[in-house]
Formats: sequence, structure tokens, C-alpha cells
Amino acid sequence: MKTVKKAIIPSAGLGTRFLPATKAMPKEMLPILEKPTIQYIVEEAIASGIEDIIIVTGKGKRAIEDHFDRNFELEETLIKRGKLGLLEKVRQPSEVEIHYIRQKEPKGLGHAVWCARKFIGNEPFAVLLGDDIVRSDQPALKQLIEQFDVTQSSIVGVQMVEDYDTQRYGIVDPGLKEGKLYQVNNFVEKPKLGTAPSNLAIMGRYVFNPEIFDFIASQDTGADGEIQLTDAIQRMNQVQSVYAFDFSGRRYDVGERLGFVKTTIDFALEDQLIREELLNYLVRKIEEVKLADKSLGYNYQKME
Ligand code: UTP
Repeated sequence: MKTVKKAIIPSAGLGTRFLPATKAMPKEMLPILEKPTIQYIVEEAIASGIEDIIIVTGKGKRAIEDHFDRNFELEETLIKRGKLGLLEKVRQPSEVEIHYIRQKEPKGLGHAVWCARKFIGNEPFAVLLGDDIVRSDQPALKQLIEQFDVTQSSIVGVQMVEDYDTQRYGIVDPGLKEGKLYQVNNFVEKPKLGTAPSNLAIMGRYVFNPEIFDFIASQDTGADGEIQLTDAIQRMNQVQSVYAFDFSGRRYDVGERLGFVKTTIDFALEDQLIREELLNYLVRKIEEVKLADKSLGYNYQKME
């Protein structure tokens, strides 16, 4: 029986939604509080039993390699100053082998995954995207790997989204359902509003059999002139079943500005050191904004 020990984290995108910050800094290094988003993803992979990670990087992504490397000078200074708590944070996470490969041009997510094919070889593997951070009792990827261990089939992680959000995601047209596992008739990339076959959206966690590389290799460029992973999954599903699994957990969308701000607030509210002061600030702020906007007749109570 095959199981999953390797993971790819594609991190070679341009991060246009965060320009100009991402002009000289990888989007994946933007922090939620003091931790870069990519570190949350690496920690999820480790907690899911992954032993080797390959990060697909691109131009201007050196900071990611430096982040996961040791920094002896910094460590020495922290030891001298007795800052052992910080030392611990700086050394983590070290339990996993991290490898790097460059995607020379940002030709799309499918292409980024394909760049790591030699590292993966003929084994099943996971893909984790940094746009989604998931908080759950059992790591999201681990939930998918457990399903893979039973089905031995490729699986994409999905969650329900609102109708108006379906146009932002790859959407699943579900077939038979068993528990939270779906057979899939079709995978549709970013369907136009009102045309989505369901509200089950692909959420940046995947487990693949290695045959996916053949489908990516023969994939034409799709929307935006990029090689789309969803298109390759759709074609693979015609030959070899790809399942969708509705994983448990709270998902934070950190790939766009509003989601990023909401995530920062949520994580800060869980931090006992700043929680109270932040809450007081937010309450005061809301009152202030309401008062200022009253003249516009805006009713905030109607918002979610
Ligand atoms: P996104 O489209 O969310 O990331 O791709 P992006 O292109 O960096 O961001 P925007 O849309 O311009 O703001 C999803 C993931 O796929 C990676 C990205 O780094 C991100 O983690 N990716 C995308 C690549 O590695 N290579 C690509 O050519 C495209």
C-alpha cells in the first residue's frame, strides 16, 4: 500500500494582489502576527507526517530559503542575551527536510507542480498552497492522506463557499457521496457567477498519484495563458478517479487583502498577550466609525 511522505509547496507566483509589498518580498513571507504564512503551511505538512518538502520558488524568493535555514549569528546573539524563548522560535521548524527548485517563469500553478516531478518520482505526493491557512484539530492535509490510504486515489480538499464566492475557485461537480468523500463528475475552474455546479470549492490541499504529471505535461495553457492545475485534474479524472474530500477545519484566506486582515485579527484575538487591548481598541473603533458614517445613512447592523 502506498502512502504520502513528500509534499510540494508552490511559491513562485507573482503575488500581484499584494503589490508593491511583493515587488521585493515573496508573498509567502508576509506574516500573520510574527510568523510568515509559509511557516504555517510547513508546520501543517510536518503535523501530517510529511518527511520531505519541496518548495517551488521563483525570482526574488531567496527570503524563503533564508527563513528555513539556520542563522548562527542571530542564534549566538540570542543565547548571549539569554533570550531562549526567541531562540526556540528562530530554530523551528527543523524536523523536516526542505528542498528548493526554481520555476523559471510563473507559467501557472500546474507548471509549478510539474517543476517538482523529478523530486517526487513515482510516488503519491501532497500539494499545499499558501493562500489558505487551516486551523483544525486534525491537520487538513492529514485528513486527506487518511482518505488516500483507504482509496489509493488522488483527492482534492474542498469546503463549502457562498454562492457569490464560487467564481473565485475551482469548483467540483459532485457525484456519489460517502460521508464527506465525493466522487466527482467534473472540475470547473472559476465558473462564471450563477453557473457553478455546486458550492464545493477546491481549497489548496491536494494528494495526487504521480500520473498527474502526465496530464500536466500534455496540458495546453488555459485561462491567463497559464498551465492550470484544475484542468489537468479534470482530464485525469476521466481516466483515473479523483475524489473530493470536505475536510474539517476553519479556513483562513490569506491570499487576498481582506482575508489577510481578518486572519490577522482572528489570530491576534487568540493571543493572550494582546487580546484584551485589541478587543478594547476594536470596540472603540467600531463606535467611532459608526458615528462618523451615520450621516451617510449606512446601517452596519445589516452586515454579516
Ligand atoms: P495564486 O494565483 O494565488 O498566487 O497562485 P499568485 O499568482 O502569487 O498571486 P496573485 O493572484 O498574483 O496575487 C496559487 C499558488 O500557486 C503559486 C503561488 O505562489 C501560490 O502559492 N504559483 C502560481 C506558482 O508557484 N507559480 C505560478 O506560476 C503561479
